[in-house]
Amino acid sequence: MELDFPHGKKLRLLIGDITRIRVDAIVNAANSGLRGGGGVDGAIHRTGGPDIMRELDGIRASSGGCPTGSAVVTGAGALPAKYVFHAVGPIYHDGSRGEPERLASCYRTCLELAEQHGVRSISFPAISTGVYGYPIEEAAAIALETIASHLRSPGCPIQDVLVVLFDEGAYAVHARVAQGRATSSRSAESL
Ligand code: APR
Repeated sequence: MELDFPHGKKLRLLIGDITRIRVDAIVNAANSGLRGGGGVDGAIHRTGGPDIMRELDGIRASSGGCPTGSAVVTGAGALPAKYVFHAVGPIYHDGSRGEPERLASCYRTCLELAEQHGVRSISFPAISTGVYGYPIEEAAAIALETIASHLRSPGCPIQDVLVVLFDEGAYAVHARVAQGRATSSRSAESL
């Protein structure tokens, strides 16, 4: 599914393995210790190789890690990208402990990092919807709204934002959320 924004910018939803899709920057669903893990994090380190963890070791040594809702930048090792943005999503409790704001902040921070690094194409996984337990429909609404609002902002140089879903169920939820919002406001641009 593809949504169009001003000046040819696009938001695309697709099913796949985020480590296999060529973009300028891949977003990782990391933890605040930046120590690697399973899910997306495991796949990124497995495919990208040890250089990525070596860089994270340096970041951890100098800053202690990365706060929830923020992200740090490394190279991409053997991945088909220039950068990995390691974003730390919130662990979901009941939704009243700042989870929505922190999840939105992950997406916003990565889009700002993309601009700072001259990134034209960026891929996101569904941050926090795996081990961290964020209900996928709520997470999808936050992710898509935050990305859409950034793509609408004047002067945003990012051309292509991909949301890469790992299975058909996750894709269907995201497509429904995107479609629902686009239809209710009669334009994909007002997602
Ligand atoms: N490509 C795209 N999506 C993937 C991939 C992949 N290769 N592998 C898993 N996913 C999907 C999951 O199905 C889920 O919907 O990414 C989403 C996020 O799941 P997690 O990777 O578990 O991330 P998160 O919920 O944010 O939990 C982060 O898990 O691996 C650890 O170190 C990580 O502690 C951190 C925590």
